[in-house]
Amino acid sequence: MRNFTHDLIERNVGLLLVLVILTISVGGLVEIVPLFFQKSTTQPVDGMKPYTALQLTGRDVYLREGCYACHSQMIRPFRAETERFGHYSVAGESVYDHPFQWGSKRTGPDLARVGGRYSDSWHKDHLNDPRSVVPESNMPSYSWLAKGKLDPDSIVPKFRAMKMLGVPYTEQQITEASAELVDKTELDALIAYLQVLGTAIKNKN
Ligand code: HEC
Repeated sequence: MRNFTHDLIERNVGLLLVLVILTISVGGLVEIVPLFFQKSTTQPVDGMKPYTALQLTGRDVYLREGCYACHSQMIRPFRAETERFGHYSVAGESVYDHPFQWGSKRTGPDLARVGGRYSDSWHKDHLNDPRSVVPESNMPSYSWLAKGKLDPDSIVPKFRAMKMLGVPYTEQQITEASAELVDKTELDALIAYLQVLGTAIKNKN
């Protein structure tokens, strides 16, 4: 051990490299591994329910239309963000999201807590023609969603897939899910999804 000195390490690039990699990986593991076992990152926040059939269908419309390209769903713990959007996002709010919709691209505002901020009819007008309610908006209109009828049978395999990923749907919820989608449109579903976003944690301001 007498020869294992800084002098030796600094003159031996290979050894230096191995030790640097070892140090960084131990540092990384110490930070990352506990997250897999921490309740605050793996358990849903109190009172959070899995998406209903209509909400989950709306979430798929959100993904299909690429709303995430302009909207993040992650409020960072900075004053400028919490003043504007509400309580910062916590990991437990995303445990039923497969895949999650975090992100940093904000052409439009963050939507993590948009639930309850506007009425259903505001969303209807806004999605149909954003400029009708926000004149300066450059959001595209999604006028076809009101014409998109839902296929009630489509929800059963979706619920099963979510269950496989750990969302606690019961067999009864799965078999009864289709009923909620009868005579509903893609617009109804998307609005139902938007209206539940971030509501498990009450807005603090
Ligand atoms: C090209 C970028 C873009 C896309 C794509 C886009 N939006 Fe927007 N969105 C905006 C902008 C900009 C605003 C702010 C102006 C406004 O309210 O219309 C906005 C505002 C919103 C708001 C109001 C948020 C608030 O807090 O005031 C909601 C809700 C919303 N968008 C939902 C959606 C949904 C759902 C989709 C997908 C169907 C979508 N957006 C797609 C750019 C976009």
